[in-house]
Amino acid sequence: MMSRENVTLVEVGLRDGLQNESTPVSASVRADWYNALADAGLRRIEAGSFVSPRWVPQMANTDDVMRQIRHDAKLSAEVLVPNLKGLEGALASDADVIAVFTAASESFNQKNINCSIAESLERFQPVIAGAKQAGKRVRAYVSCVVGCPYEGPIAPAQVARVVEQLLEIGADEISLGDTIGVARPKEIHALLDATLPLLPTNKLALHCHDTRGQAIANIYASLERGIRTFDSAVAGLGGCPYAKGATGNVATEDVLYLLEGEGFDTGVDLDAVARLGDTICKTLDRANPSRVGRALTSC
Ligand code: HMG
Ligand code: MG
Repeated sequence: MMSRENVTLVEVGLRDGLQNESTPVSASVRADWYNALADAGLRRIEAGSFVSPRWVPQMANTDDVMRQIRHDAKLSAEVLVPNLKGLEGALASDADVIAVFTAASESFNQKNINCSIAESLERFQPVIAGAKQAGKRVRAYVSCVVGCPYEGPIAPAQVARVVEQLLEIGADEISLGDTIGVARPKEIHALLDATLPLLPTNKLALHCHDTRGQAIANIYASLERGIRTFDSAVAGLGGCPYAKGATGNVATEDVLYLLEGEGFDTGVDLDAVARLGDTICKTLDRANPSRVGRALTSC
């Protein structure tokens, strides 16, 4: 029997989702969507990223988004930061959580942040130290934890090595990213076998992309292993500009439906998220990949 303590969702649609949309969305619309997600009960929400606008133009005005969102003690406004310049922007915007990001694959890391894994860890040291000094929590993403679009399968031991180093330099939480959505429960169990000995379950999150429709099965498998933090995106928005073929994150609506059925408390209003997902899809003129979202809004 699984214990039914609370589950935390980290909503990544406004960052992971919108970074991949061909039409940039204005800062005020992004802020409105952030506030609507907060109204629906989500407490940890990624508002954007402080990365090079030449690399990811869609996230260019994250500082404007941060100015327009509601900041309150119950909400955690989270942003991605690749270097000290990004940290400067994040701190000026009063972000609550700073997320650094690297990978378990050298090739992916080069394409994504233009440096090796070792160089990225070196780059993060002053970023993490600066964030901590400012009283911020630090999340660290590891991409390509099961497979890489350039290198193929990734060994769990390689992921564990990167996780260990991120913990050593001060990361408070690790999010394991199945960037291209290739994982199945068996691979998730192998990944958790290799990483769970390194940190308590409450410091580990799973970040599933649903490219092959396995995300919900993978989340269920990791619930059985004690994981209680999951990244998801309203309306299954998402992808990575540097991972060709990577489709959306697992939809927040689909995860909420699973969790409600299993008796977990998330504090999130599924109907409100589904209505927002529908609005976002209409605004972006895209189909809604969330089956739960479609089921709840089509009648
Ligand atoms: P670089 O070109 O090697 O860096 O890029 P640089 O230091 O030589 O700087 C180049 C230019 O960028 C300079 O401007 C800098 O000022 C500027 P110029 O002088 O040429 O006009 N610059 C910046 N501008 C704003 N904010 C900054 C910043 N840093 C430099 N922070 C760099 C290296 C890391 C900056 C670049 O590769 C980059 O920004 N990459 C971001 C890639 C990205 O955002 N990818 C998507 C997020 S990761 C993801 O989606 C995976 C995840 O969801 C988990 C999963 O699914 O696996 C998290
Ligand atoms: Mg992602």
